[in-house]
Formats: sequence, structure tokens, C-alpha cells
Amino acid sequence: MIVVLDFGGQYNQLITRRIREFGVYSELHPHTLTAQEIKAMNPKGIVFSGGPNSVYEEGAFTCDPDIFSLGVPVLGICYGMQLMVHHFGGKVERAGSREYGKAMLTVQNASPLYHGLPHEQFVWMSHSDLVMETPEGFEVDGTNPSCPIAAMSHVEKGFYGVQFHPEVRHTEHGNALLKNFVFAICECEANWSMKNFIDDEVAKIRDIVGDRQVLCALSGGVDSSVVAALIQKAIGDQLLCIFVDNGLLRKDEAESVMETFSVGFNMRVIKVDAAQRFLDKLKGVSDPEQKRKIIGNEFIYVFQDEANSLKGVDFLAQGTLYTDVIESGTLTAQTIKSHHNVGGLPEDMTFELIEPLNTLFKDEVRALGSQLGLPDEIVWRQPFPGPGLGIRVLGEVTEDKLKIVRDSDAILREEIKKAGLDRDIWQYFTALPNMRSVGVMGDARTYDYTVGVRAVTSIDGMTSDWARIPWDVLEVISSRIVNEVDHVNRVVYDITSKPPATIEWE
Ligand code: XMP
Repeated sequence: MIVVLDFGGQYNQLITRRIREFGVYSELHPHTLTAQEIKAMNPKGIVFSGGPNSVYEEGAFTCDPDIFSLGVPVLGICYGMQLMVHHFGGKVERAGSREYGKAMLTVQNASPLYHGLPHEQFVWMSHSDLVMETPEGFEVDGTNPSCPIAAMSHVEKGFYGVQFHPEVRHTEHGNALLKNFVFAICECEANWSMKNFIDDEVAKIRDIVGDRQVLCALSGGVDSSVVAALIQKAIGDQLLCIFVDNGLLRKDEAESVMETFSVGFNMRVIKVDAAQRFLDKLKGVSDPEQKRKIIGNEFIYVFQDEANSLKGVDFLAQGTLYTDVIESGTLTAQTIKSHHNVGGLPEDMTFELIEPLNTLFKDEVRALGSQLGLPDEIVWRQPFPGPGLGIRVLGEVTEDKLKIVRDSDAILREEIKKAGLDRDIWQYFTALPNMRSVGVMGDARTYDYTVGVRAVTSIDGMTSDWARIPWDVLEVISSRIVNEVDHVNRVVYDITSKPPATIEWE
């Protein structure tokens, strides 16, 4: 295993990710981890990440100096290299100008980090400080006109520094360099795979849970589904899932979740039919924020009512991902959001938490789901908001309007799949604006609803672009919706990116 220490750089997670792709387990930890804590993890190597500070500034992030005495190889990247230089008595200074982007690295020393790599290669730089002098015992490995000490090493001690970022794709031979560090220098073996992960987690869960019971809020989304499948593999019937049908799910969704888990996986799933409860609460409410709050709170009440009626359940399983932990748990400037939990369950619920996915990235969770035998519809499910169709029926939510969204959305999904676009488009759905317009059907005038089709490409939902669905596919979608869905006489396609729009319409 390789420990990556986080000094606040923007590519930190990528370092961990790359190493895992090589089949070697790696974890990202705060830079405040002590040498003793690191020793207890028994890593074969340590990577110092980049970061926004200057090592010579007051309050700059630093590390436990005893880390250098653990006898474990260290690779310092960007700030990580400068920190090493600073610690061992070299010199780091502000550069005349910030260097950002592609640069040519000339390798001038045959250190094992560059074994098999060309003498000249493109690397990706992003720094404002420069190493002016290497510490005693270090050799300059690579150079670049605007960064004379672009790489250095102390081979005997196993200390390596690079000013560039080997973890980003723009560094031509970045993967090869990291592999040299992980395999040749740290002598790791590529033995981490999803299969091992499952075996390890199953053993861990059995050990923690013993003969007690675990509760899981199952939504049918990727994360909660994978958690449920993994825990069931470990403890079978000691797992109990609660699936809340809030009446705001897509067409046939509740049945399909029950079919998959209750029948397919033979899981103990309690389905709570709470549709009427949610609809009653939403009656007469048209403000989007108020709707969201009502739906969120009602979920908690329903879940709590069910959980309170159960006896002898000690654990609550959650689908917290590694990204959630990192975003809230590190001590660097990148704190983005506070640690969320399933549906914002209240803190006074006295469960112990089990979060078996909290070391995995989203794509790893999908791979795990496939390995556990979950169907593609779940593993590759597009994001679906917690408030569900409640925010896709704009304005007041009624049963009739929900039916229009459900039916039109089902047609859209069917046609997108038929056209083979379901993996390319990040998210696609229909929304029902609170308006009607005039149309003509047969020979008669109609005055009916407009359905909005939204389809976006995105990486993480933070920004998005509208998907360029071919005209002929849009034509079929539009014609089927007006012909097959009652009370719709017009279909519009949303061609706005985010920003300035959001993905959802409410
Ligand atoms: P927006 O509309 O903010 O959506 O551009 C970005 C992504 O987040 C999803 N979304 C939600 N997910 N609870 C969720 O779990 C919510 O309240 C919620 N609101 C939006 C949305 O579907 C899109 O993928």
C-alpha cells in the first residue's frame, strides 16, 4: 500500500487513483498524519502531493519530520518536492513568473524513477516557486529551461522529487514514472483488485457485526444498492433494508427495485408505501425550495417511524464514498461540503455506522457492483435527485402531473437506449413546466401541457453542456410523447448549459 499525504493540491485524488489503477492499494491522508500513524499502516511508499502554499511562508503545511526516518521511499510532487528540499536544507524561492502548462523535461541522471523513459519528454507544470538549490546528497535528475531543478533524487535514501505532475494525463510518461516508483522503488506487488476488496470487506463486516443486525436505506441508486449487496454477501439475512416509495419515483421504479433486491438477491426489504403521505404534504405547495424541504423531512420521518418499530438493529449502513470523506475530512483548503449522510438522518438515531465504500471512487463502486452481480440498469444508473419527480413537476405536484412526467420520461429513456446513447449522455429526463399552450390534434383545438426534454453531458454535475441528440432521435421522442402521453401537445428541448442554467428545472 502507498500512502499519499495531502498538502492541498488539486490533483491529490488522482495520485491515489492512478496507483490503484496499477493494482496497488493507495489511500489519501491529511498531511498531519504522524510518522507513527503511518508506520502502523505499514506502507511500502509515501507520496507527498502538491499544494497551494509556499514552503517558506509562515503556517505553510508541513509534515512530521520523523517520516523521513521510517526507511520508506518518498516521492514529493511539486510542493511535496519543495517541502523535502526545505526540510533537508536546500533552497526554495519564488519564481520570476508562474509556470503553468506543458514543458519539456530533459532527464540528466539515470535514477530508477526514469528507467525506460526517454531522455526528453513533455511534462505538466503548475508552480510559482522554484527549487534553487538541492539539499546535500541529492542529485538533479531533470531540468527544463525555466525550471533548472525540475527533478531530483537521493537514491540511497529512496527520496525522489519532481516539480511536474506525473499524475495528470498531460505528463506524457507520468504513468510509467509512477509505476517505476511504485514497483521498482517501493517494490509493491500488483495484487489489489475488486475481488480482494470484496473478500476483505466481507471479512471485516462479519467481524464487526457478529450476530447483530444492520439496517440500510435502499433507494435503488448506485451507492446504496452496492452497499446493500456487499453487506448481504457478508451477513445475509442479518441485513434489513428499508425502501421508501415516496410516490415521486420514475415509471416502474419501485417495482424494479423490489424485483432486483427482494426477488433477485433474496434480500429482506421492507417497502414503505408512503406516496399518499408525501402527496398530502406537498398539496398546495409550489415553491421549489419548500418542496425540497418537505420531501427531505418527510423521508426522515418515514424512515424513523420504520426504524423505531424494529428491534435489535444496531448498525446503519451508508453509501458514503471516498470523495465524500475527502471533501469533508482533509485539513487542506479544498473543503467543499460537509460530510453528508443518507437523507440527512437525524443525529439522535443511535446506530453505529458502517460505511464500506468510503475508500472507493465512484467508478470503483460501479465495478464493485458489477462484480457483486448487480444488473447494468443499477450499476450504470444515471443520477436521480433525492426529491425525485417532485422537482420535475414544476409548481404544485399532483398525481396527474406526475403521471405525465413518468410516461414522457419512460419514452425518452426507451428511445435514448434504443439509439445507443444511454452511456454517452450523463443525465436525461423530462420536466413538466407549469404552463399550457394551444395546439391542434385531428381537427380540434387543444389547450394542453408542454413537456421539456433535458439531456446533458457532464463529468460531475457541477457544470454541464446540453447533449447533441441527433434530430431524428429527437423527432421520434417528440412524436411519441405527444401521441402517447395524454394532455401533452408540445415538446421542447432544453439547449442551455450549466451555468447559467442548472441541470434540473427546479
Ligand atoms: P442541478 O440541478 O443543481 O443538479 O444542476 C446537479 C445534479 O444534482 C442532482 N440533484 C440532486 N441530487 N438531491 C440529490 O441527491 C437533490 O436535492 C438534488 N438536486 C439536484 C441533479 O439531478 C443533477 O444530477
